[in-house]
Amino acid sequence: MSGYAHRHLLGTRGLTAAEITDLLDRANRYAEINRTPDKKHAILSGRTVVNLFYENSTRTRTSFELAAKRLSADVINMQTGASSVAKGETLIDTAATLNAMHPDVLVVRHHDSGAVSLLSQKVNCAVVNAGDGKHEHPTQGLLDALTIRRRKGRLAGLKVAICGDVLHSRVARSNIYLLTTMGAEVRLVAPRTLCIPGAESLGVSVFHDLKAGIADCDIVMMLRIQNERMSGGFIPSTREYFRFFGLDREKLAAAKPDALVMHPGPMNRGVEIDSDIADDVDRSLIREQVEMGVAVRMAVLETVTRNLALERGEPWGNAK
Ligand code: CP
Repeated sequence: MSGYAHRHLLGTRGLTAAEITDLLDRANRYAEINRTPDKKHAILSGRTVVNLFYENSTRTRTSFELAAKRLSADVINMQTGASSVAKGETLIDTAATLNAMHPDVLVVRHHDSGAVSLLSQKVNCAVVNAGDGKHEHPTQGLLDALTIRRRKGRLAGLKVAICGDVLHSRVARSNIYLLTTMGAEVRLVAPRTLCIPGAESLGVSVFHDLKAGIADCDIVMMLRIQNERMSGGFIPSTREYFRFFGLDREKLAAAKPDALVMHPGPMNRGVEIDSDIADDVDRSLIREQVEMGVAVRMAVLETVTRNLALERGEPWGNAK
């Protein structure tokens, strides 16, 4: 099978172009249906999706919930602060407890890189990584790719600059793996203190000057400064950072005249991006990224649930 045939989605690293295209094509169909009055499908009726989030989230958690509900699944949202996690229960014990209730999909966000992969080895349902530490955020990579593909018509050959706090960003890593696999030219633009050591080995070029890095680019993807993952000393001050690495209209002029701006959110306005650019409907794709997030998560939930059913030898209905 050339499409996505795995039970879990833990990252974009190692995915083939055919697997990525399969997920994007399915998500694109959902994106169109989501713009119609009748958004509900029966494909996951009787299935159960559990959202287990150990870190805060607005976009990812709500869009996974909405995606599961649009596919008619039953959805449980675990608030770890109000669960036995707060009494010291480990990730693996929590996963084993939930697994005993026969969910079909566990959607997991965790602050430790690799935690979601470890958990996936301890359960017999499907597991989707909703962001683990600074490792990967595969559905963000997919929704970014879908947003770009819909607006530019392709991914291959595009010049994409990923700018800002690359070091702490799982979004950057998932986008690097996915976009290079799909034939895009990826540049990382970051202060020396916030870049991935040896990033060139990932097939990207590295710049430490924003205007030089985004010159002639089709897509300028800004990243949030992740203060919660820093122990101090990475940037002199937010004011200084904005002066050199914050995207404003004057710096954006170095990119192609029709270059589009992205940001995974949440934004630090006036730190990595000026509101003037973030809110410019002609240049900013930020709201469209959120919209595509629901479509991508519908495609992923449907696909991993189907793959789980086929692995178990269970019947699978007519996929839309
Ligand atoms: N982009 C993203 O992961 O946003 P949330 O943290 O709000 O889910």
